Amino acid sequence: MKLKIAIQKSGRLHEDSIKLLKECGIDINNGVNRLKTEASNFPLEVLYLRDDDIPQYVEDGVADIGIVGENVMLEKRKNALSLLPLGFGKCRLSIAVPKNSDYKDISSLEGKKIATSYPLILGDFLAKNKLNSEIHEISGSVEIAPNVGLADAICDLVSSGSTLFINNLEEKEVVLKSEAILISSDQLIPGKQQILDQLLFRIQAVKQSRKHKYILLNAPDENVERIIRLLPGMKSPTVLPLAVKGWSSIHSVVHEDDFWNIIQSLKAEGAQGILVTGIEKMIL
Ligand code: PRP
Ligand code: ZN
Repeated sequence: MKLKIAIQKSGRLHEDSIKLLKECGIDINNGVNRLKTEASNFPLEVLYLRDDDIPQYVEDGVADIGIVGENVMLEKRKNALSLLPLGFGKCRLSIAVPKNSDYKDISSLEGKKIATSYPLILGDFLAKNKLNSEIHEISGSVEIAPNVGLADAICDLVSSGSTLFINNLEEKEVVLKSEAILISSDQLIPGKQQILDQLLFRIQAVKQSRKHKYILLNAPDENVERIIRLLPGMKSPTVLPLAVKGWSSIHSVVHEDDFWNIIQSLKAEGAQGILVTGIEKMIL
């Protein structure tokens, strides 16, 4: 038995989706122009599909699970479960207007025409803000709509912002923040559920490791206690004596974000030879 996962055929999420599977130890030949491939060392079949179609395929059971932007999942409103955020593909769904427009605040959208591929999410947003704007649904290249006179504004995904920049548009309102998520069918047979559980375990280990760094440093013995207090390790840091008398080596795991906050304090406590390295897998 194989679990079928749908991932984006090409676009923003494609590379990172494949990378995640690889980091989970799953070997797939990334054949371009192929509709599907099989993993050689895990019971997984990979279907390459348009991201917008993935929730539908999961609802229909053509795919068992899928990786999509949360934005797509929220727009499509299909019968599928959102399992967990994956930490990549971060973006915003935003309303943008031409740079030279006289936009003041959100009320400037009243009565205006907004082009989008997200009519349902935009509709909810407008209703919540008591705005009567006209939603013009288009399926692709939304960013050119204002320039060709099709709309006064757009509501589209913004990631780096370069698409808006190239098209002379300015982001004004953030409707939604999004990232890639794992979704699944709500009717998996037990055998497939078991494979999914194994995959989830691996994804969690990879996600944990991405957020953390392994840190090693040397410190004078009299400061070891204080340095340990600065390091919120997994349980407690490892302390080993150095060959040089009066010095110890301390090993621990820190949150990437915390690292930059504590580095100065570590140095102030006499820490030397600080090494920080990535962690490949982490099981808590
Ligand atoms: C989105 C959006 C823009 C682009 C924005 O497309 O429609 O074209 O990404 O990214 P940027 O701010 O980095 O320029 P998406 O990747 O979802 O592709 P799709 O619309 O073809 O599904
Ligand atoms: Zn898309």
